[in-house]
Amino acid sequence: MELSWFKKGTIYQIYPRSFNDSNNDGIGDLRGIIDKLEYLERLHVDILWLSPIFSSPNDDNGYDISDYCAIMPEFGTMEDFDELLEKTHDKGMRLILDLVANHCSDEHIWFEEAKKSKDNPYRDYFHWRSPSADGGPPNNWKSFFGGSAWEYDEASGEYYLHLFTRKQPDLNWENPKVREEIYDAMRFWLDKGVDGFRMDVIPLISKRKGYPDAPDVGFRKILEDVYANGPRLHEYLREMNDKVISHYDAFSLAEGVGINHTNAGLYIDYDRKELDMLYHFDILECTIVNGKFEEPSPFDLVKMKHIYKKWRDAVHEKGWLANAMGNHDFARMVSRFGDDTTYWLASAKMLLMMQATQNGTLNIYQGDEIGMTNLILGAIEDVRDVQSLNFYKENIETKRYSEALALTMINAEGRDNARTPIQWSDEKHGGFSNSDPWLQVNPNYTKINVKHQEDDPDSILNFYRALLKVRKQYDIFVYGTIEELAFENPDLYIYKKTLEGETIVVILNFREVSIDFELGEPFDQADVILNNYKTMHIEEGVIHLQPYQGIILKRQ
Ligand code: GLC
Ligand code: CA
Repeated sequence: MELSWFKKGTIYQIYPRSFNDSNNDGIGDLRGIIDKLEYLERLHVDILWLSPIFSSPNDDNGYDISDYCAIMPEFGTMEDFDELLEKTHDKGMRLILDLVANHCSDEHIWFEEAKKSKDNPYRDYFHWRSPSADGGPPNNWKSFFGGSAWEYDEASGEYYLHLFTRKQPDLNWENPKVREEIYDAMRFWLDKGVDGFRMDVIPLISKRKGYPDAPDVGFRKILEDVYANGPRLHEYLREMNDKVISHYDAFSLAEGVGINHTNAGLYIDYDRKELDMLYHFDILECTIVNGKFEEPSPFDLVKMKHIYKKWRDAVHEKGWLANAMGNHDFARMVSRFGDDTTYWLASAKMLLMMQATQNGTLNIYQGDEIGMTNLILGAIEDVRDVQSLNFYKENIETKRYSEALALTMINAEGRDNARTPIQWSDEKHGGFSNSDPWLQVNPNYTKINVKHQEDDPDSILNFYRALLKVRKQYDIFVYGTIEELAFENPDLYIYKKTLEGETIVVILNFREVSIDFELGEPFDQADVILNNYKTMHIEEGVIHLQPYQGIILKRQ
């Protein structure tokens, strides 16, 4: 097993727009992050991942980049960035940026040029096709955010491809000039000292030859077989590693969209020299059957255990995974997998205990360290996310859903849930800003906020601190071999981890009721490393678990 700093480290994802607003314009910014570096240091996180901070018209909150080497003015200046990077490093933490290389903004100079004429030198930076015989789009590909993936350009009579919004034209990676442009942008940041990249939708960069129609097999299968994993993908990733990443002490973290456990090795096996790690979507989407806003299924613990196991077996000692249960694209993890009402405190802590004891680099999302929850938006006017807005528009127009139902679905699964401003205190706007924030603060900020939790030794925040600190001390948390007990038990998740003669046992109750379990092994004498309750009852090998109780024991 290759050991590297990024394996044992904890990644903390910052969504800058919602993190902390230093100049009170309602939008989080880089100086806001600088002001909270000490907070992050005290949380014991190691690597900060910033969602995009580059110039952008913000059709998709920065995931539509109009200049890869400039800072979005709303977020600050290049001097602010340099200071942030330096201070992050001074505190012994690392910083990675979000590389959006599948597409750029339609306001990027490349696209503005490309649109001018068919023989413009930038035309071939994008995917252009003639209309189909009936004058419609060249094929049946759908945008991830609704509607056709093709947009008609009046001036040239051709369509361009956009797998996301029409303001996010896909870059043509077949063109070596495009690849060099992206590599140059990467070098620009790496030369400044950034420590790597999270790679946005990277499995999508190579398109299928001739743009064949997608078969009618459901979104997930189409994603894997038509949009992701294209024919030249691995060639590009090797080239990117060879020409750029491998020359720096930096790592790449792929967004594993469209990757499953059977082909993950092609991306992350050590000997392939492509990417350093990925986070997959199977856990993140384990309640989502086909696509977001479609037939959600209830959370099923046994299914989740199978997912963890199959991925573990698949990458075992050959590659490395990052381990995420939430991010800016999903609803809040405590609301999805735990209980955001009665057992909020216990369940938020218990979920972290699971996440932090699975193998792989721990990847946490801002606000989860205080147990932030989903937000109920009262009207479509309050929704900000382009994915939700497009979904709403499309389904109201086609009368598939009523307005009320569409809004309910958005509130359950929409991305705004995770993007509400961080609740720093019980002051107005949760202490995030003095002005109205770009997206409303969850009204529960009066109860759930950093300030209260700082002062409370039992808080989720202080539990995160303790756990992340412990994780640094024990290699076994990260590298141990897992063996499950009572695998098919639908309520409890129990596993042993062993490493070089050490054993820990992780015992997690996923239910809002007390449950007894016969451990069948002599753990009466074990040390309690962590417990999300004050008490623990083990008698004659039977452990009595309280609702959502989590315990980590170490055998003496
Ligand atoms: C990724 C990002 C998401 C974005 C999309 C398009 O999935 O995480 O926020 O909308 O890519 O860039
Ligand atoms: Ca601001």
